[in-house]
Amino acid sequence: MKTSRSLLVGGGAALLGGLLFLACRTTGTPSANLAVGDAASKVYVAPGQHDEYYAFMSGGFSGQVSVYGLPSGRLLKVIPVFSQNAENGWGYNEETKPMLETTYGFIPWDDSHHTELSQTDGVPNGKWLFINGNNTPRIARIDLTTFETDEIVQIPNAAGGHASPFTTPDGRYVVSATRFSIPIGDAGENRDVAIDSYKDTFKGTLSFVKADEPTKMRIAFQILMPGYDYDLGHAGKGPSEGWFFFTSYNSERAYTKLEANASQADKDYIAAVNYKQAESCVAQGKARTVNTRYAHNWMDEGSRAAKSEMVASVPMLDPRTCPGLVYYLPTPKSPHGVDVDPTGEYIVAGGKLATVIPVHSATKLLKAIADKQFESEIDGIPVLKYQAVLAGEVQKPGLGPLHTEFDGRGNAYTSMFISSEVVKWKLGTWEVLDRAPTYYSVGHLMIPGGDTKKPWGKYLVAMNKITKDRYLPTGPELAQSAQLYDISGDKIKLLLDFPTIGEPHYANAVPASLIEQQQVKFYKLTENTHPFVTKAEAQGGIKRAGKRVDVNMVAIRSHFAPDNLEGVQLGDTVYFHVTNIEQDWDILHGFAVLGATNAELILNPGETKTLKWVPAATGVYPFYCTDFCSALHQEMQGYVRVSPA
Ligand code: CUA
Repeated sequence: MKTSRSLLVGGGAALLGGLLFLACRTTGTPSANLAVGDAASKVYVAPGQHDEYYAFMSGGFSGQVSVYGLPSGRLLKVIPVFSQNAENGWGYNEETKPMLETTYGFIPWDDSHHTELSQTDGVPNGKWLFINGNNTPRIARIDLTTFETDEIVQIPNAAGGHASPFTTPDGRYVVSATRFSIPIGDAGENRDVAIDSYKDTFKGTLSFVKADEPTKMRIAFQILMPGYDYDLGHAGKGPSEGWFFFTSYNSERAYTKLEANASQADKDYIAAVNYKQAESCVAQGKARTVNTRYAHNWMDEGSRAAKSEMVASVPMLDPRTCPGLVYYLPTPKSPHGVDVDPTGEYIVAGGKLATVIPVHSATKLLKAIADKQFESEIDGIPVLKYQAVLAGEVQKPGLGPLHTEFDGRGNAYTSMFISSEVVKWKLGTWEVLDRAPTYYSVGHLMIPGGDTKKPWGKYLVAMNKITKDRYLPTGPELAQSAQLYDISGDKIKLLLDFPTIGEPHYANAVPASLIEQQQVKFYKLTENTHPFVTKAEAQGGIKRAGKRVDVNMVAIRSHFAPDNLEGVQLGDTVYFHVTNIEQDWDILHGFAVLGATNAELILNPGETKTLKWVPAATGVYPFYCTDFCSALHQEMQGYVRVSPA
């Protein structure tokens, strides 16, 4: 096995090099390209016109989400989530810092991986966008009326939350599965054990997070799993509704990923979880209560200030004491994506190192369970026979199948990482219909609604890991890249390249009409319940309590009030509470003080934000508005005097 795996990877690398070389030669007009003018007319959105779709792309190691218009590829916004972001003051001011609290303390960075739109009956409803933090496992929720992150929940008893935050079609849960198994103790603690005790001591967890109401995300239950790595997931729908599927690799339980150890097995697994059975076991008291703390953070609607709390217990299920909870479906080989077609009958795996695309059948899965078609059992989890659950295999699809999306017309599109292409194939016949090159090394694909019951199958976006020669070069580090294809006809047609922010691991898109009419244009000052709000110019002022100084201030075109402050002393901690009292769309103000270490404030209309400042020396310090707000923006400034104590 060792030899064949080495050959496969070596051969793949050589082939990849060859394909890159070939692709570089043909970037002008590859066969899948439309004539330049035809492609241009399909992506041209005239000045002042709006795009047809909102696309939400994960920002990868930037920690954020970026919003693009399709088909133009125009960047509309970067929504800050897991990383501090100066453009919006996110994670710097006192109001948003609590959003980044965890049990490890304040963490101003994460690696955001997968987006997921909230759904009603398996169709995106335009309410929320979920995104996971992969490093310190967390799930964030973005409110699509404000395009702001309004809730973050940490996932305890896990390390790396990669298979996340996919939702159930009824919107009740989002999930997170362990990327790294760790030695979880009985009380949820991370144990100090020898790493070579992996096979005996390391465990994974699958987490189901209650997500059907705002500001109450909670771990509904976790499932203790064998020490494998869990990669991606998707919920069933239709005949598979009530099931959740996770890809599970490293079934060797190797703790060093050097080739000799990992990826030896012919088959890894898809874990099929019956979450209705989980609910029933929890209701019957079969879950153990593990007292592990996790952070839950949310934005208070009236004050627009975040709250952070620690939640202290998690119901943990063990498949050994909840029969019927989890089954393993053997799946070749190191599967990455697991994707369920719009009907819910087909469960498609992307076996990175497999030579076929295996497709399982929901109907056969249910029958195989009823008939006990098991080949073995692992830690209380029955392993089903491959042939008993298999619907079919797509033969010779390309190299390195990763992830599949659907167009709603019976076709599937799979990304091929190693052979750098998108392959279109037919559900049911498993016949390859078309293929188009990607530039280069495509990871995930996205069709608007392409993982839901009702795809809008007009466009496909390839998210590529390597950019090379596609744009003007920018030194050794290049932006990553997305490509837009027209999939409305028989053939896949490349329309457009556009650079991305960070590394988009996944994306979602919906018709703009679902979202654009519901936008909040400003926050109502009358509804602002921030404890330090200042609603009129005359109400501002400076107050001292011991060494603490609170400055209440308004910002309005084109001044601050008050704008000259005296009475601050060395050793004081100063809190500038600035309220933007504008009640008009797109009129923002900013606030920055010379030498302040936590950057700036950016204030939406009607909002109060607080900058904490500990002056380091006596003197007179200017402050000013950082957001160009009016013809007199440059005049929007003031001074604060710091005297000896
Ligand atoms: Cu206010 Cu610039």
